[in-house]
Amino acid sequence: MKKEVFGKTPEGTQINRYTLTNQNGITIRIINYGAIITSIQTPDKNGQAGEVVLGFDNLEGYLAEHPYFGAVAGRCANRIAKGKFTLDGKEYTLAINNGPNHLHGGLKGFDKQVWTVTELSEQNALELTYTSKDGEEGYPGNLTVLVTYSLTNNNELKIDYEATTDKATPINLTNHSYFNLAAGQAEDALNHEVVLYAERYTIVDENLIPTGELPLVAGTAMDFSSPHTIGSRINQVTGGYDHNYVLTNSQNEELGLAAMVNEPQTGRQLEVYTTQPGIQFYSGNFLDGSLTGHQGEVYKKHYGFCLETQHFPDSPNQPNFPSTILKPGETFKQSTVYKFSVRNNTQE
Ligand code: BGC
Repeated sequence: MKKEVFGKTPEGTQINRYTLTNQNGITIRIINYGAIITSIQTPDKNGQAGEVVLGFDNLEGYLAEHPYFGAVAGRCANRIAKGKFTLDGKEYTLAINNGPNHLHGGLKGFDKQVWTVTELSEQNALELTYTSKDGEEGYPGNLTVLVTYSLTNNNELKIDYEATTDKATPINLTNHSYFNLAAGQAEDALNHEVVLYAERYTIVDENLIPTGELPLVAGTAMDFSSPHTIGSRINQVTGGYDHNYVLTNSQNEELGLAAMVNEPQTGRQLEVYTTQPGIQFYSGNFLDGSLTGHQGEVYKKHYGFCLETQHFPDSPNQPNFPSTILKPGETFKQSTVYKFSVRNNTQE
């Protein structure tokens, strides 16, 4: 495992970048700021390595405003309506940072914290921990979070999440990587073919807060139960895809196949497995060309897409959604696997 200095925060804390590699030419870079995955390089169908996530080669990019590139979002990923919820009879008010709502943990979420790193060289893994103080961004309880990134020789990036708390608190952790498997060879990500293993999704209001209904995707532009390119029906979806799908294969909190993505030009394929009940499929609708990242790529609208495995948005206010409440004495555990491969499309 390689470790190098990446920069310093304004408070003077040194940020390091760690590089994991495997036998098949995959390279993953992670920093201890935001537990951010800054880079994933994988071979295409001709064995040519390329960058498949959006991100920056310097810390300044991450210290400036950016839309959660590669970061761990928490304490609660996604939105909580009006930043309010009631737990054990007490109302809590969270930081508001997205219109009227709380998004991805607030003003200084887990994506903007410095994490403590343990290198697990034998497992080709990196362990990052962070303790979020009672009252941070409005959340109750001291919460200790452990995120482990491991890279296997099966070309899997495995992300394991664990957490414990001393007061009951909602928790919803995800990784917010933006993928583009064309690795700089395409205008945007709209040609990626996507399958989502979901029959229903959480329909949202104009502030992207779920109404509580779980309509069927069948017969609509939301249906990715068979392969469709991101772009083929995106114009039928107001604002583009930014929806949480109810996953079919991970109902028992065991790893189940959640998504499969193929980039036809380079043959790169990505499978996503998770223990979580939902996945936010986000088609990079708010990217606007104002950020330039790896290799000078301009991150314009739809340049990357996210597959954020998670609990459903606004769960603390939705009694019918799977619970996100972690209690003292319990251990929060979730895992997600991003598996990289290539598909030789000409042989099909
Ligand atoms: C949300 C989007 C948001 C993006 C970046 C996604 O998880 O669903 O609405 O714009 O994150 O913050």
